[in-house]
Amino acid sequence: MPVLLLALETSCDETSAALIRDGVVLGARIASQIQLHAEYGGVVPELAAREHLRNLLPTTQGALRTAGVSPHELDAVAATRGPGLPTALLVGFRAGQAIAFALRKPFIGIHHHEAHLYSPWAAGHPLRAQLDQLEPNVSLIVSGGHTLLVHVESEFRHRVLGGTIDDAAGECFDKTGKLMGLPYPAGPIIDRLAAQGDPLAFKFPRPLLHDHHDDFSFSGLKTSVRYFLRDHPDLLKNESAVRDLCASVQNAIVEVLVKKTVRAARRLRVRWVTASGGVTCNQQLRRELARACAEHQLQLRLADKSLCTDNAAMVGLLAARKLQHGPASGTLEEDILPGWPLS
Ligand code: KG4
Ligand code: ZN
Repeated sequence: MPVLLLALETSCDETSAALIRDGVVLGARIASQIQLHAEYGGVVPELAAREHLRNLLPTTQGALRTAGVSPHELDAVAATRGPGLPTALLVGFRAGQAIAFALRKPFIGIHHHEAHLYSPWAAGHPLRAQLDQLEPNVSLIVSGGHTLLVHVESEFRHRVLGGTIDDAAGECFDKTGKLMGLPYPAGPIIDRLAAQGDPLAFKFPRPLLHDHHDDFSFSGLKTSVRYFLRDHPDLLKNESAVRDLCASVQNAIVEVLVKKTVRAARRLRVRWVTASGGVTCNQQLRRELARACAEHQLQLRLADKSLCTDNAAMVGLLAARKLQHGPASGTLEEDILPGWPLS
């Protein structure tokens, strides 16, 4: 049955809506709150929720306009159910339920990380889901809130191999950037400055790189940058030294992510590696994953950059696929799950 679906995503600081028809993204809009939270150096949950309330309607109307469809044509509605900031999640989830109720259409709540997990299997212009091509893979999900390594055995069958025991990789980019005086979120700025820096200029630790499990830890790296800058404060006055610092910190984060991902893929004897989440925008991470995968005869699928940071298109693509496999499971009595584990 052809399905036209509206998806909403408000789990953190992006208000997003997307229209999906038969596995193709017809239109998507994202209202970013980065400027709002930059002033505070991180996401302020109550401000995020208030901004979602303000942005959700125009964002949804914009996505409907781009897709050229009217709400009455919708066959189903999807929204992120968790994990995420409770008050932020509530805005998109309840709005999705309300739209489904008003239109008497099915509603489906989606796991945010599961949406990231399958996002590398969408490609093209317009973006189209290619989940029929899914192969067993090891998937890296790296964002500001999470660093997860997942074994995907087949569609909808996955097992978490490891996660971060403290800071997420994106958080490490953002917090070390803050120590260097860079604005929030520092990840994309470090990426840009690192391109002109020397990654071997300063040596920072590679936490848990040689441990024989799939967990990550990034707070020690951040602390080591803090002490290094305390002992060498003048470096921050020198633009070239800041570029070298960015390149060296990025090099440490990327080396850990790439080596642990490839090691897990080889141990599990999968032929494919995938990566998604905001940090997957990072140029060095994309380059190094490609290099390491080629070296070990692994195939690589990186999420399209438009699907890396939080967005409703990945939520809608997964929801549409789930609806192909069975009726919508969500009820209008269902609640958000802010701490929903990926299982
Ligand atoms: O997936 P996302 O939009 O939101 C969640 O955290 O769920 O990811 C945002 C994170 C931030 O920590 C940001 O600094 C990081 O992704 N990020 C990057 C880059 N672009 C975004 N980190 C490194 N290099 C980038 N190019
Ligand atoms: Zn995310």
